[in-house]
Amino acid sequence: MQNMTKDPKQTISKAVQEAFSSVLGEQYKDANPVVRLSQNPKFGDYQINGIMGLAKKLGQNPRELAEKIKDSVDLASFAESLEVAGPGFINVTLSLPALITLCEEMDTDSLGVHKSEDSHPIAIDLCGVNVAKQLHVGHLRSTIIGDSLARVFERLGRKVYRENHLGDWGLPIAKVLENLLSTGVDLHAISIEDLNTAYKDAQFIAKDDVAGLETAKNISAGPHRITELEEQNAEAIPAQERAKSTLVRLQQGDADLLSNWEKLIDCTMKEVYVSLDLLNVKLGPEHNRGESFYRDRLADTVDAFINAKLSEEDDGALIVRFKDRKRPLLIQKSDGGFIYATTDLAAIYFRTQELKCDSVIYVVDARQRDHFKDLFDAAALIGWNKTPDGADVMFKHIPFGSVLGDDKKPLKTRSGSSVTLSSLLDEAIARGRAEVRRRSEDEKSQTHGMSSKELSTIGRQIGIGAIKYADLSNDLVSDYVFDMDRMISFEGNTGPYIQYACARIASLLEKSGETSFSSRILINTPQERLLILKLLQYGNVIQSVAQHLEPHLLCLWLHELTGAFSSFYQACPVLKVEDEAIKGSRLRLSELTRRVIVDGLDLLGIEVPQKM
Ligand code: ARG
Repeated sequence: MQNMTKDPKQTISKAVQEAFSSVLGEQYKDANPVVRLSQNPKFGDYQINGIMGLAKKLGQNPRELAEKIKDSVDLASFAESLEVAGPGFINVTLSLPALITLCEEMDTDSLGVHKSEDSHPIAIDLCGVNVAKQLHVGHLRSTIIGDSLARVFERLGRKVYRENHLGDWGLPIAKVLENLLSTGVDLHAISIEDLNTAYKDAQFIAKDDVAGLETAKNISAGPHRITELEEQNAEAIPAQERAKSTLVRLQQGDADLLSNWEKLIDCTMKEVYVSLDLLNVKLGPEHNRGESFYRDRLADTVDAFINAKLSEEDDGALIVRFKDRKRPLLIQKSDGGFIYATTDLAAIYFRTQELKCDSVIYVVDARQRDHFKDLFDAAALIGWNKTPDGADVMFKHIPFGSVLGDDKKPLKTRSGSSVTLSSLLDEAIARGRAEVRRRSEDEKSQTHGMSSKELSTIGRQIGIGAIKYADLSNDLVSDYVFDMDRMISFEGNTGPYIQYACARIASLLEKSGETSFSSRILINTPQERLLILKLLQYGNVIQSVAQHLEPHLLCLWLHELTGAFSSFYQACPVLKVEDEAIKGSRLRLSELTRRVIVDGLDLLGIEVPQKM
C-alpha cells in the first residue's frame, strides 16, 4: 500500500504507473496517467484519463487496455472501486476510511504541505525601486508577486533571499545629486516630491540629442542600454559633465557627497516603506542590496569575462557576443564606465557563487526581457549557472504585464502622468473603508456597532486585499485592467469574496461555543466528500505554484475551495444538526477549511479580517 499522507492523485498516479509497467513493460513506467479530480461524484472521485492516448499510440483497443490496467492496479484498501467508463476512462472511488484518514492527517500544522528536500537557497529579485523616484504601479506588481513567491518557497521550507536591487548608484543618481546640490536645497528637509522634481529636471537638463539613441538602435540594444548610450553620447552638455564628475567623486568615496547620497536614499526609502507597510509585504531595510552594493565588484566581474576570453573589444567598449544572435551584451563602456548589466552580472556571481542559490528569480516588467536573456546566457558562458557544489542554477525572469486603465492603455492619472503607488493604495483603502462602513450600518452585519478604528483596519485589509488578489489572480505575463469596482466586490473571483467567506466561517465557529475542533470526521453527503477532496489538493497546489511560479493557480484554487465550502454549507446544516457526532465533524471540517484559506491567503500576502 502506498504512502497515504499525500494528495490521493499522487497515490493513484503511482499505482497506475506501476500497472502500466507490468501490463505494457518497463518502458511505460513514467507514462502520464492523467489523473483528475472528477467533476461529478456520479463518476467517482477521480478519473484516470491517460489510457486512451496510450492505446492510440500502441494501436490497441482503449477499453480493453483500460480493463487490463484496471485489473492490475493495486490500490488495496485505498480505493473502494475502479470502473472502466466511456471510451476508456477509469473512474476511481476512494474508500471512506481512506478518505477520512487522509483528511484527519491533513489537519495538522503543515496542512498537508510537505517540505522541500532542496537545501539550496533561492534569490528573488523584487521591488527594485530607483532612488529619487516614486514607486509606481510597476513596482506594485514586482513587489507583491515577488513577495508571494517568496512566501510560497518559505512555506515549502526553502531559505529565500528577498533581493531589493535598488537603483541607487550610477549616473542618474549623480545627476539628481548634482542638481540638488547646485540649487542649494537642504537635503535634510527634502521630500520625495522634491526629489522627483529634481530627477525630472536633471534628466531634462542633461537630455541628449538623437545621435546616441540612433547608435543604440543600430545595435538593437535593450531599453536600459538605450538610456545608457543616450547618456554616453551626450558629452557635449555641461550638466552631463558636472553629473559625471559628481559620479567620479562618489565612486572615489568623497565623504561629503556620500553622506548626501545617503540622504537621498533615506528620503526615498522612507516613503517606500510606508507603501510596503500598507501592502503587508515582508520587505524591509534588511532586504536592500542595491546597485551600490556591487560597486566595488564591477571591475572583477569584467575581468572574469576578459580572463575567460569571453569578451571582445568593440570601438573601445567591451562586449560579450552570443552565437545565436546579433545583439551583443555591453559590459563596459568605451570611457571605462560600467553599466546596469555589469552590476547585474556581479549580482549573479554573488547570488549563485556566494549565497549559493540554485534558483534566481527576477520579478521585473516585460520591457527588460532582452536584458535578462543576455544576462542568463552570459552567466551560462562563464559557468555561473552552477553553484559551487555543482547544482544547476535555474535563472528565471518573470516578465509581468502592465496595469491598464479603462482605455486599455498603461494606467495614467487624468493629467497623463503615471500613477504613483501611494495614490493607488490610498484609493484602495478609501474604497475598502467605504464598503465596510456601508455594510456595518446593517444591523445583521458582523461589523455592526464596531468602533471607527476597528472598521478602518478592516477597510484597509479589504482594500489592499482586493488589489493584491486582483493582481495575483491573473496569469502574470498578461496585462490587466485596473477596475476597482470589480476588485472590491464581495462576489466573484475577488479577494474580498474569499476574505468574507473566511470571516463567515469564523463567526459560525464562534457561535458553536467550541474552542477545539477534533471530533472524528464523518462523511454522509456528497458535499462533505467533495469538500474533503478539494482540501486534500492543497499541498499539491502549493507545489505547482512553486514549480510554475504562478500565484494565480493558488487564487483559482482558493476560489474553488470557497465554492466547495459554500455548497457544503448550503447542503449540510452545522449548528442545527441534531447528531452531536455529525455536528462535531462538520465543525472540524469548517475549521480546517478556514485554516487552509487563512494559510493560502497569507501565501498571497493577504490578511483576513476576523469580521467583515
Ligand atoms: N531598478 C530597475 C528598474 O526600475 C529594476 C531592477 C530590477 N532588478 C535587476 N536585478 N535588474 O528598471
